[in-house]
Amino acid sequence: MASLLQLLPILCLHWLIININISFISSNQIPKLQPYVVYMGRSSSSSSSTTSNGNSSREEVEIAKLAHLQLLSSIIPSEESERINLIHHYNHAFKGFSAMLTDKEASALSENDEVVSVFPDPHLQLHTTRSWDFLEPQQPTTYNFHKYNLSSTDVIIAIIDTGIWPESQSFKDIGLGEIPSKWKGVCMESPDFKKSNCNRKLIGARYYHTPSAAASNSTLKTSGGTPRDPIGHGTHVAGTAAGARVRNVSYYGLGRGIARGGSPSARIASYKACSEDGCSGSTILKAMDDAIKDGVDIISISIGMSSIFQEDFLSDPIAIGAFHAEQMGVMVVCSAGNDGPDSSTVVNTAPWIFTVAASTIDRDFQSTVLLGNGKTFQGNGIHFSNLSRSKKTYPLAFGKDVAARLTPPSEAKSCYPGSLDPEKVEGKIIVCIGNDPTVPRKIRKLVVEDANAKGLILVNEYEKGVPFDSGTFAFAQVDNRVGSQIINYINSTKNPTATILPTVDIPKHKPAPVIAYFSSRGPGQLTENIIKPDITAPGVAIIAAVVPIDKEGIVPIGQKPPKYATRSGTSMACPHVTGAAAFIRSVHHQWSSSMIKSALMTTATVYDNLGKPMRNNTGKYANPHDMGVGEISPVKALDPGLLFETRTKDYLNFLCYYGYSGKIIRSISNVNFNCPNKSSEKLISNINYPSISITNLDRRRGVRIIRRRVTNVGSPNATYIAKVDAPSGLLVKVLPHKIDFTDTIKTVSFKVAFYTKNKEDTSTAYKFGSVTWFDASHSVRMVFAVSFL
Ligand SMILES: *[C@@H]1O[C@H](CO)[C@@H](O)[C@H](O)[C@H]1NC(C)=O
Ligand SMILES: *[C@@H]1O[C@H](CO)[C@@H](O)[C@H](O)[C@H]1NC(C)=O
Ligand SMILES: *[C@@H]1O[C@H](CO)[C@@H](O)[C@H](O)[C@H]1NC(C)=O
Ligand SMILES: *[C@@H]1O[C@H](CO)[C@@H](O)[C@H](O)[C@H]1NC(C)=O
Ligand SMILES: *[C@@H]1O[C@H](CO)[C@@H](O)[C@H](O)[C@H]1NC(C)=O
Ligand SMILES: *[C@@H]1O[C@H](CO)[C@@H](O)[C@H](O)[C@H]1NC(C)=O
Ligand SMILES: *[C@@H]1O[C@H](CO)[C@@H](O)[C@H](O)[C@H]1NC(C)=O
Ligand SMILES: *[C@@H]1O[C@H](CO)[C@@H](O)[C@H](O)[C@H]1NC(C)=O
Ligand SMILES: *[C@@H]1O[C@H](CO)[C@@H](O)[C@H](O)[C@H]1NC(C)=O
Repeated sequence: MASLLQLLPILCLHWLIININISFISSNQIPKLQPYVVYMGRSSSSSSSTTSNGNSSREEVEIAKLAHLQLLSSIIPSEESERINLIHHYNHAFKGFSAMLTDKEASALSENDEVVSVFPDPHLQLHTTRSWDFLEPQQPTTYNFHKYNLSSTDVIIAIIDTGIWPESQSFKDIGLGEIPSKWKGVCMESPDFKKSNCNRKLIGARYYHTPSAAASNSTLKTSGGTPRDPIGHGTHVAGTAAGARVRNVSYYGLGRGIARGGSPSARIASYKACSEDGCSGSTILKAMDDAIKDGVDIISISIGMSSIFQEDFLSDPIAIGAFHAEQMGVMVVCSAGNDGPDSSTVVNTAPWIFTVAASTIDRDFQSTVLLGNGKTFQGNGIHFSNLSRSKKTYPLAFGKDVAARLTPPSEAKSCYPGSLDPEKVEGKIIVCIGNDPTVPRKIRKLVVEDANAKGLILVNEYEKGVPFDSGTFAFAQVDNRVGSQIINYINSTKNPTATILPTVDIPKHKPAPVIAYFSSRGPGQLTENIIKPDITAPGVAIIAAVVPIDKEGIVPIGQKPPKYATRSGTSMACPHVTGAAAFIRSVHHQWSSSMIKSALMTTATVYDNLGKPMRNNTGKYANPHDMGVGEISPVKALDPGLLFETRTKDYLNFLCYYGYSGKIIRSISNVNFNCPNKSSEKLISNINYPSISITNLDRRRGVRIIRRRVTNVGSPNATYIAKVDAPSGLLVKVLPHKIDFTDTIKTVSFKVAFYTKNKEDTSTAYKFGSVTWFDASHSVRMVFAVSFL
């Protein structure tokens, strides 16, 4: 059952407004209402036949709706019958609804035999960087998919996000054939979105009413929505996953090149479930139900629950929707979150979800600082100010020397809100120390800008590598070493001056990829027996389509709003994997989601463009809790050699081992199933996943034997040999260590035995390594993580 109380603290603020509205509407005393999701397991239509793709007749839907209303009327007092209303109703891939309930009613419902879980509708966040810091340009990805003769262009990708801006060049349908016949979705209209805005690329668009909009009125609102993207997050994500090729794209001249998505031939269906403020879980669940019914192949979700208040798998809307999607052959790819670099911050960690971390690409954006003494320093960041046009320099001051009255210099030094004296700041370039992660760069920039400064030089070590976009305000970020040289210069002269030169993009930047500081880290909070995140993809300063909004401070004087811009976040990494998965599916139609995931995971690279192991942004080696198995190599993944297939039964066993009852699992599963007699969380390590995680290996009696099963998808006659890369203190044996595949032997099981070696070592910290299966032309790498007791 959902721990209802846990979520309340963060939800309170959000729903406060609604409760006030309700008390105005009604003269009666209504107890505190809030939206709840009532999840009731698999739907009858999903289990009757998988070929029906969740199709259910109108009649069936109406009957199910009536049943849900009846269920509500059994717990809502008759004198409040006007409250017997469904906000969302789920009936295609799974059953349930969302509704406004009191906490008493919610807990009464959770006792009902048909109900799997009841939980307060959570507020989810878009996974761009924490602070919407970045407005960034479009980059051509480094993967050349076009030399492949794609046998099919019928892969459909659902983007569940903030909607779409259909006019973008990235969504033109030139060269695409008929819409695949399996498509059953719709192109919803609104005053600003016509049927003709959909085409053979953007084949569908839906929008939803959020519970808060519904709640503010006793009758559910049915107008006012639109599939159109007001902010650009959904447009950017869609363009990255499957945008068409567009030549000569740049962000005001930066990063010029061809823009295209990971799978330019795939079709896009947009489901607008979020606004600028985030998303309601119940709406995301509705969008997933619709997407499965509409006939999509892959669902891409750059959204997640809070990493602090993580709910169990069956009280997490994305995990629930993805579970049913997976059972019906639809792959779900999600972002890992932006709450790094602290450990255990990764979200979307269910094993049936493909969880994506973010890394940098080989392009850097530099804004050089020129001091009055002629010295220059390399800075990082994106700005379009006209500061250096006149070739002159401006007075330069350290924040603590221009503090407001009564403000401690320690605050002014860091440019905290209210700490600067506008009279002393006006016309100057200000230097601030920005190493306190609680104040976003965007805020510091606003503080300095509001005090009438000419520009900001931010000394910031931890956000290194993720360029901040300050729009038309001059900005450069430098590291501590450069920062102290600039401060010494200020201290050494009577009238220090400086300017910030225009931003230039540096291609072929090294090293890259580097794991982004913001990318959420493993291990997972719910279980450590699966490695999460799974994989890494580019998510820093990615250039893709945006909504051209004319916002002051963003658009340079005399220019039009940008149609392509940079953004950063695991939100941007997720659609890279979605696009790569669509590309693989277009070549290997018959592969299941878990086979595609395995292909991408076992072929991923852990090396950067210097040929060295990948690092994090402080220069330390990255480990699987930072990057999963490494960075995707989509072209290699086309020919992986061997595949680890995770079947529905593996996922059901996972739920048993995690601790759900057999009864609950049967009510959500499309197949007949009984939990194994022996069940413990440890056994999760044994589900057939393309990586291995073992927890609490006993140092004294330490042996753990893990089973895996591989299927040969290369040439039939192949011999594979296992090679182990084990960390010190651990002995790892593979049995058998040689496998012969033939025309008839296609799937083979093997064991990996882990023995502790150094009994004196008392550290319980994780150690990492890998088992790689080699034949003449493939290497199939399986990463492992082991913690000790
Ligand atoms: C779904 O059901 C409706 C009504 O039974 C039917 O008209 C439609 O063709 C079905 N679609 C599919 C894909 O089976
Ligand atoms: C691509 O596929 C088509 C249809 O199967 C075939 O006619 C064509 O020769 C192929 N082109 C290449 C370069 O393989
Ligand atoms: C609810 O919405 C309807 C239509 O949008 C409107 O006519 C009605 O006045 C609203 N009621 C309240 C109490 O706001
Ligand atoms: C690319 O676009 C720029 C303007 O944004 C234009 O000046 C330039 O000529 C274009 N280049 C090509 C090759 O079309
Ligand atoms: C530079 O920008 C400022 C505002 O940021 C504006 O007042 C000024 O006129 C601009 N100068 C030029 C030469 O465009
Ligand atoms: C600036 O110089 C003064 C005196 O030389 C010294 O006390 C102070 O520590 C210096 N400040 C910085 C930030 O280097
Ligand atoms: C980088 O990795 C080191 C070693 O694992 C870790 O201590 C540090 O916190 C990480 N820093 C970032 C920003 O990821
Ligand atoms: C599991 O337990 C049931 C009932 O106790 C028994 O009938 C069955 O044989 C057991 N299965 C296994 C694999 O041990
Ligand atoms: C695999 O080997 C067997 C026995 O040597 C042979 O009969 C068969 O033709 C081979 N298959 C392929 C595809 O090479």
